[in-house]
Amino acid sequence: MGKVYLVGAGPGAPDLLTLRAAEILKRAELVFHDALVHPQTLELAVHARKILVGKRSGRHSTAQSFINKRLVDAARKHAVVVRLKGGDPMLFGRAQEEIDGLRKAGIDFEIVPGVTAATAAAAELGVSLTRRGIARHVVFVTPRAAEGERENDWAASVLAADTAVIYMGAGLAEELGAELIGRGKSPTTPIALVEGATLPEKRAFHGTLADLSKLARKAGDGPAVVLVGEVLRAALAEPVLAEKIESILKRA
Ligand SMILES: C[S@@+](CC[C@H](N)C(=O)[O-])C[C@H]1O[C@@H](n2cnc3c(N)ncnc32)[C@H](O)[C@@H]1O
Repeated sequence: MGKVYLVGAGPGAPDLLTLRAAEILKRAELVFHDALVHPQTLELAVHARKILVGKRSGRHSTAQSFINKRLVDAARKHAVVVRLKGGDPMLFGRAQEEIDGLRKAGIDFEIVPGVTAATAAAAELGVSLTRRGIARHVVFVTPRAAEGERENDWAASVLAADTAVIYMGAGLAEELGAELIGRGKSPTTPIALVEGATLPEKRAFHGTLADLSKLARKAGDGPAVVLVGEVLRAALAEPVLAEKIESILKRA
């Protein structure tokens, strides 16, 4: 009986992988990976067969229950099986369903964390998600519910948070902005949209909540997070952020 490693590949740049993840990839016999994983990261798995199993919203992806089953079957035949996910596996990565399936089947597993999109975006901007006297409360949230999943009040979380990072929300920008403003969030709340954080094609836009759909239209169709909160206003008051965003845009 083999072991399954749920490994975080990080937000994009291949050198943001942990040493532990790299070492496991070298030993892997089979790698099931997401669509967003960088080709250079996959190349580390020199002995492995690589199988793409998902997932960009709106495009074809393998059903989650099928992935869960494939992991169990693979661990019955191979010593080292890797499930390689973008960012950190434990955030918006459906890791729990895979963990539950492995536990139920009695398969040994281990989680290897990765750099998540929220902290990668904060790093790109040079803006801390927390800041003394301004933000001590950060929320990672998505408005997207999977098929059959109960709706949750994502907007309440954004309203309550000092800083919010919205995953998988750029495509819904118009609805997000309208919902948040309709629920009482000030239209002048500073926001930033960071697309493709850590990748050469990265882009960043900033403005206010009222501009959200405008900013989202400027972005491409790469993975993007939306940051909302006063930490951005404080940072924008410093010319450094504006300069930083401009330089990201120039590089794009
Ligand atoms: C299915 S979720 C997976 C999140 C991942 N587990 C993580 O920890 O970052 C995919 C979403 O993460 C965000 N994302 C992933 N990579 C990103 C990047 N390089 N820049 C900005 N956002 C990114 C986008 O919101 C994208 O739609």
